[in-house]
Amino acid sequence: MATRKLKDNIHEVGAIDFDRRLFDELIPLPEGTSYNSYLVKGSEKTALIDTVDPAKVASLVENLNELNIEKIDYIIAHHAEQDHSGSLPFIVELFPTAKIVTNAKCKEMLISLLLLPEDKFQVVNDRETLSLGDKTLEFIFAPWVHWPETMLTYLKEDKVLFTCDFFGSHLAATPLFVGDEAHVLRSAKRYFAEIMMPFRNLIKQHLEKLKTIDFTVIAPSHGPVYDRPKLILDAYADWSGDQVKNEVVLPYVSMHGSTQEMVEYLINALIARGVVVKPYNLSRTDIGELAMDLVDAATVVIGSPTVLVGPHPLAAYAAFLANALRPKTRFASIVGSFGWGGKMVETLSAMLPNLKVTIIPPVIAKGAPREADYAALDNLADEIKKSHQAAGIA
Ligand code: FEO
Repeated sequence: MATRKLKDNIHEVGAIDFDRRLFDELIPLPEGTSYNSYLVKGSEKTALIDTVDPAKVASLVENLNELNIEKIDYIIAHHAEQDHSGSLPFIVELFPTAKIVTNAKCKEMLISLLLLPEDKFQVVNDRETLSLGDKTLEFIFAPWVHWPETMLTYLKEDKVLFTCDFFGSHLAATPLFVGDEAHVLRSAKRYFAEIMMPFRNLIKQHLEKLKTIDFTVIAPSHGPVYDRPKLILDAYADWSGDQVKNEVVLPYVSMHGSTQEMVEYLINALIARGVVVKPYNLSRTDIGELAMDLVDAATVVIGSPTVLVGPHPLAAYAAFLANALRPKTRFASIVGSFGWGGKMVETLSAMLPNLKVTIIPPVIAKGAPREADYAALDNLADEIKKSHQAAGIA
């Protein structure tokens, strides 16, 4: 590993995790990730902003050694989740006089998650400042991006905003700053979808608050640093806003081909009507890709056969995920088939209480689809198109 200079006396000293492919045993990481940790040296005091996942603590220690850091006065803990805080026990042992600076909620969580002793903490309030001599840290509480204790740090003299998970991306890139903007934005959108989307209404409020702060750099604790913050601020305003696109996300699974035939027919019917459609065969889908498309789509249609009187478990998983991620989707429907009966539609519909959607009547075939089912699928495509037109997006 190596340190990366952000500005004079500000270095990124964390770890790039090129090999990690799964986060929380749930989220795919096709491009790895990084746990950014920042060392800020003031004329009098030194602060470390966030640590790293405990699996990478050796990289953090190596980087601190490279900079000949013998004393750390403050360790700023933005967030209790272990990918940033998990190395705290090692670092406070290595730097025994260091205080962990955080808010009361985060302190409580760090003590319960990491069994850290009470006397290691220095608790701060929202907008409180901490002097490092010629550098001043200001703490800005930003709850629910994405846990209740999350906060940001503004380094006033250098106009750097350290944001931990907020504005992050799971991207193991060696340049510190954003290079390929389209690539980084795609990764950041995926990250937003998986981590931040359930809190998009609070994010809108945080974005408003940030308009009052004069920063020129956003330094998150995952992925590249933004030296042109407008790029990610505009993207977040778009993703967290209420505008939807003329798109249908179509997660589906088929066992013996009937649902597959219906999905393929519906895809063509939507294409013919000028509606963008994004199908995901759930038996081989990266759920991060699916989540990313849920950020903007006006409509979700779930395709499922009937299994043991209910939806296929993969379709139920997609419904559970969509419900938990709370996208701004406006319309929903279901297509699929059954052999002898069941409650597939009722079960799937009941799994979406968080979505504020209008349900467009589902199309369910008995066995293989016939003429009447294809006509119903044409009608479904018409209704989707009309709904999008009424929403002013088609
Ligand atoms: Fe990157 Fe919520 O931790």
